[in-house]
Amino acid sequence: MADIETFKQENRVFAPPAEFVKNAAVSGMDGYNALCAEAERDYEGFWARLARENLQWKKPFTKTLNEADAPFYKWFEDGKINVSYNCLDVNLENGNADKTAVIFESDDAKVTRVTYRELHKKVCHFANGLKSLGVKKGDRVVIYMPMSVEGVAAMQACARIGATHSVVFGGFSAKSLQERVIDAGAVAVITADYQVRGGKQLPLKSIVDEALAMGGCDTIRNVVVYKRAGADINWVEGRDLWLHDVVANQPDACEPEWVDAEHPLFILYTSGSTGKPKGVQHASGGYLLWAVLTMKWTFDIKPDDVYWCTADIGWITGHTYIAYGPLAVGATQIVFEGVPTYPNAGRFWDMVQRHKATIFYTAPTAIRSLIKAAEADEKIHPKQYDLSSLRLLGSVGEPINPEAWMWYYKNIGQEKCPIVDTFWQTETGGHMISPLPGATPQVPGSCTLPLPGITAAIVDETGNDLPNGTGGILVVKRPWPSMIRTIWNDPERFKKSYFPEEFGGKVYLAGDGAIRNKDTGYFTITGRIDDVLNVSGHRMGTMEIESALVANPIVAEAAVVGKPDETTGESICAFVVLKRPRPTGDEAKAIAKELRDWVAKEIGPIAKPKEIRFGDNLPKTRSGKIMRRLLRVLAKGEDITQDISTLENPAILDQLKEAQ
Ligand code: PRX
Repeated sequence: MADIETFKQENRVFAPPAEFVKNAAVSGMDGYNALCAEAERDYEGFWARLARENLQWKKPFTKTLNEADAPFYKWFEDGKINVSYNCLDVNLENGNADKTAVIFESDDAKVTRVTYRELHKKVCHFANGLKSLGVKKGDRVVIYMPMSVEGVAAMQACARIGATHSVVFGGFSAKSLQERVIDAGAVAVITADYQVRGGKQLPLKSIVDEALAMGGCDTIRNVVVYKRAGADINWVEGRDLWLHDVVANQPDACEPEWVDAEHPLFILYTSGSTGKPKGVQHASGGYLLWAVLTMKWTFDIKPDDVYWCTADIGWITGHTYIAYGPLAVGATQIVFEGVPTYPNAGRFWDMVQRHKATIFYTAPTAIRSLIKAAEADEKIHPKQYDLSSLRLLGSVGEPINPEAWMWYYKNIGQEKCPIVDTFWQTETGGHMISPLPGATPQVPGSCTLPLPGITAAIVDETGNDLPNGTGGILVVKRPWPSMIRTIWNDPERFKKSYFPEEFGGKVYLAGDGAIRNKDTGYFTITGRIDDVLNVSGHRMGTMEIESALVANPIVAEAAVVGKPDETTGESICAFVVLKRPRPTGDEAKAIAKELRDWVAKEIGPIAKPKEIRFGDNLPKTRSGKIMRRLLRVLAKGEDITQDISTLENPAILDQLKEAQ
């Protein structure tokens, strides 16, 4: 967890190596400042220039930004584009046809290389196959796939025919999948028979079957199944189709569907402060522009790079920095099926060595757990591997504590690789605040400065700017091309969540707190200011977990809070009141296990509470409001020193100290 005191005292500064600065796309602070100044001088002109220079348009746009219906902003609205064309065909035309697009490494270390020409063909077959099933522009397609070339191809195929995809992370339960299928009104699900991770086969297709059998998914006509493992699966005749049959005999070319720049490319569900996940809707043109620019600016991508982002395509990082960004800039990237700890915790470093990765982008949780593993076992310590190919490291998803930053810098980056600590969100589409590796001096634990054109600021509760050195609420003052367009099916919630009236209705509220350094103006993110937790970089709503718990017939009431955790950043601590007397001893342990499994079934294993505490009641005010601030203190195991005079039932606090 970000400890603000640690950051305030942090005064180590790491300037980019001279060699890096010399060759960087954005070279030195002069380069950075020049871009910022251009954006300030002529905001729309800046974005228009970049959109013309970095994307191929079927029909050029004449309008850059339309603010008439704010906060429903439109970018490049009269331009026609196709995202898949920009990721694939463009590379066939500019000499990258035989370049490796994807180095796929399976869980059991089998390596497959796919060139841009081959990927283009695969995506065209897939797109034509989907069309043969009647999937057309504007339809929604849910993708519930393992990390695979086919998963990326599925996303690209949807983009090619103008279908809006909604990828659901393979760790979500049948119930979560069903809710997303219903909300999106999807016509098809693309899945695999199994996913293979850490030497185990985990079912996917049977979870799809279960989800669709729960009811309400009447819009689904087909389930397309990629055969990954080949083990037996249940089959629904007339609905289920093998992917290899769907793509067989399809033409090698598929004319892209030219869509308006604002056409929804995808919906990605993420947690908010109510029980129901939000379908974050992204557009085509503006989203792709930022994917391309941040690949160039933040990752300084070069033709010879071997780029590796370890995220899953089920999250936004896997969308922008696996499925779209790297392809749109013609990069060679590693796509990895497995987990960092199989066959041992040296897997990442072994892969960097074998594939000569040059850019490596991962989450602080992964770094922290690999530090522990390396300290426990010399044999898989990074010093045993040749990591000399690396030239740039990245971090994403949660605050990186200075100790983990330093370890990453020394042991993985060999004190020569800049680290880009990229702050962004599902809603922002791409990086927002991050060092540029050939420009910005880095400070461990700080995401440093906003990218050019991004008007990030820190304000108080009424929207007034705060001076540097004072912590407050992170906002973005002007719209930017890759921003969320709306919440699918819920424009009112979109306005309320991100453009609340208290802030004038026009600034984007990120949901995070932040502070700027007094001298440098560098940003440090201090964590969510809403009821959203960040566990291992996975975003989860406390209300979502509470709703799952109270859906269990034995639970009367539940309150969930985050607890700082050394490895996962935060962990989930649930306070539960049962409809029966408070359990103790073995009974409490057994019920806690039952409830954990229940949450895994309701949401997914990532939402399992690490700790469950039982009480006869929850600490409440006289008006019946749960006092969450006390629960946070109890979760940390600290003594309560706050004023508890408004607490109706102080005796309950002792009961809630015991964790199961
Ligand atoms: O709290 C911030 C944290 O992750 C949240 C966004 O989560 P999600 O939409 O799942 O996207 C994660 C991948 C971009 C943010 O509101 N967060 C993300 N990156 C950082 C971060 N916190 C601190 N530092 C970061 N670099």
